[in-house]
Amino acid sequence: MDAFTFHNPTKLIFGKNQVEALKDQLPAHTKKVLLVYGGGSIKKNGIYEQVIAQLDQAEVEVVELSGVEPNPRLSTVRKGVDLCKQENVDFILAVGGGSVIDCTKTIAAGAKYDGDAWELVTKQASPKGALPFGTVLTLAATGSEMNAGAVITNWETNEKYGWGFPPYTFPTFSILDPQNTMSVPRDQTIYGIVDMMSHLFEQYFHNETQSPVQDEMVEGVLRTVIDTAPKLLDNLESYQHRETILYAGTIALNGMLQMGYSGDWGSHNIEHAVSAVYDIPHAGGLAILFPNWMKHNVEVNEKRFVRMATKVFNVDTEGKTDREVALEGIEALRSFWSSLGAPETLADYDIQDDKFDVIVDRAMNRGAFGNFSKLEGKDVEKILVMSK
Ligand code: NZQ
Ligand code: ZN
Repeated sequence: MDAFTFHNPTKLIFGKNQVEALKDQLPAHTKKVLLVYGGGSIKKNGIYEQVIAQLDQAEVEVVELSGVEPNPRLSTVRKGVDLCKQENVDFILAVGGGSVIDCTKTIAAGAKYDGDAWELVTKQASPKGALPFGTVLTLAATGSEMNAGAVITNWETNEKYGWGFPPYTFPTFSILDPQNTMSVPRDQTIYGIVDMMSHLFEQYFHNETQSPVQDEMVEGVLRTVIDTAPKLLDNLESYQHRETILYAGTIALNGMLQMGYSGDWGSHNIEHAVSAVYDIPHAGGLAILFPNWMKHNVEVNEKRFVRMATKVFNVDTEGKTDREVALEGIEALRSFWSSLGAPETLADYDIQDDKFDVIVDRAMNRGAFGNFSKLEGKDVEKILVMSK
């Protein structure tokens, strides 16, 4: 393993009715809170009222920023930064999914920075600090509730980048009540499942040979999600299955599984370039691209794919070559995602090949990428062509 230091400062508050703990989590002397949320789902499912009641009990003033888009935009981050500065906000509360949380992280750092927040996202500058912020998560998917990453889109330039600056961009606390994810519609539930599985696969594809604990943990979480997902989709209001999926999403990307090695993260990079140009749901893009990334890279470390096939998808090896087993494993993933209802090709989003050059250009903006396998522009193009 590589030498590492692990420090995750986010206080995780998990379980039924845990939103009642919110009022006690605000830092002492908090006077004004910026409440950040999305397009209004929290007003339909009652979470907004619960949160406002807590903030009332904490006797803080509340300023609101609503309308954070899925694939949150720089323009909304800028609005939030302006609000923080004008209103002297001293704490930010994100109530929503990964988009609301990522927007909040960037606002928090932007509020303590004199230049434009895009300079932070593009890493031209480093934050000088950040307003403290917490989250009430409403959708199981990204893991943003317990990590320091944020993904922001600049719609004017069609660029979408992940960034983060620990410890400033870690939430101070995150409240996760499975009940708050009951109203997540079927399509977003599927996307969340694909996203968390993709995070597990990004970490699974590494070339470290001495990581038995991590590998077994990743496989265990993957098998659990594969077992639970169809049951949840049969009954979207099952508390038990919502709870399993919610916990899996957090564990999948809070750093616990990636100690001592680097995951690949190439598929995420390509997907961010696709959704920067076409604004499709993040995990819809991953469902299409990731199996093709796997096929493209099967030769890099065939044994790794064989392990995935046998330990995650129970592929029978009898009388088969390693290559056949590896490809069967990739096919098993594709058919599992399809069985849930995830998209399979870019054409499912009406994406043709006319802007592949722009997507390749955006994906390559920060140079060759991927740790398991380094991808150049020609590889990205090949994966896009396979995904048509
Ligand atoms: O906007 P509202 O009204 O809240 O509706 C949202 C949105 O339309 C809805 N929703 C959320 N909770 C709900 C609900 N609807 C009903 N009931 C609820 N309880 O779901 C829709 C999607 O929400 P969004 O926050 O966009 O989804 P997700 O959590 O999947 O976040 C996606 C974003 O996160 C980034 C993605 O690139 C994308 O921009 N990622 C962030 C990561 C991170 N910070 O670590 C890692 C990921 O790989 C990912 O890239
Ligand atoms: Zn993701």
